[in-house]
Amino acid sequence: MATFLRTLSYRYQWLYDGISRIAALSVGGENKFRQLALQGLTINSDSRILDLCCGSGQATQILTKISRNVTGLDASPLSLQRAKENVPQANYVEAFAENIPFAENKFDLVHTSAALHEMQPEQLQKILKEVYRILQPGGVFAVVDFHQPTNPLFVPGLWVFFWLFETETAWKLLKSDLPELLRNVGFKVEEPKLYAGGSLQVIQARK
Ligand SMILES: C[S@@+](CC[C@H](N)C(=O)[O-])C[C@H]1O[C@@H](n2cnc3c(N)ncnc32)[C@H](O)[C@@H]1O
Repeated sequence: MATFLRTLSYRYQWLYDGISRIAALSVGGENKFRQLALQGLTINSDSRILDLCCGSGQATQILTKISRNVTGLDASPLSLQRAKENVPQANYVEAFAENIPFAENKFDLVHTSAALHEMQPEQLQKILKEVYRILQPGGVFAVVDFHQPTNPLFVPGLWVFFWLFETETAWKLLKSDLPELLRNVGFKVEEPKLYAGGSLQVIQARK
């Protein structure tokens, strides 16, 4: 699954950004999309924030406007290099999200956008446990990612998008119950907020 466009979108940042911008129109634009998972959270300039799977720093940038203590983590050296150029005010670490090189209780907020759908189920389990470990008690894991559309009108668009850009892990995420997976590792989670006809879910899970 997925087409050559997936490879191209990771190779050329302008293409990735263009696709993100178009996809974000479904929730009112990129700026709104980038802040969806942060709504209602109490974050200040001292909050210790990890942008997990930060990519080229699209959400990291928003986070650095709120806090001066932001770290981006990604497994891709190319993405990290771009993030460092795009958002030099954050710190960065190259690592796998399933093996996060930080101590227990290190962060007040872990944010991740459009990344968990890239993980195999076993990987996802490990990542959720790692995020729980590095959050301080009361800290929040803020997630925005795909969800099975609740409005049938959004199904064709999501399927075309998945066919062009995503792999089988994205389809697996649609079938999984992310809030339940989070509860299983100890998080307190309410039902997700849904956007774009239900094709996007926002979860704020508290340790
Ligand atoms: C679709 S991009 C999302 C980037 C960014 N968060 C955004 O909202 O645009 C997914 C990112 O996850 C990273 N990634 C995938 N698997 C990972 C893993 N196991 N550990 C760390 N990063 C990973 C990829 O390198 C990529 O930068």
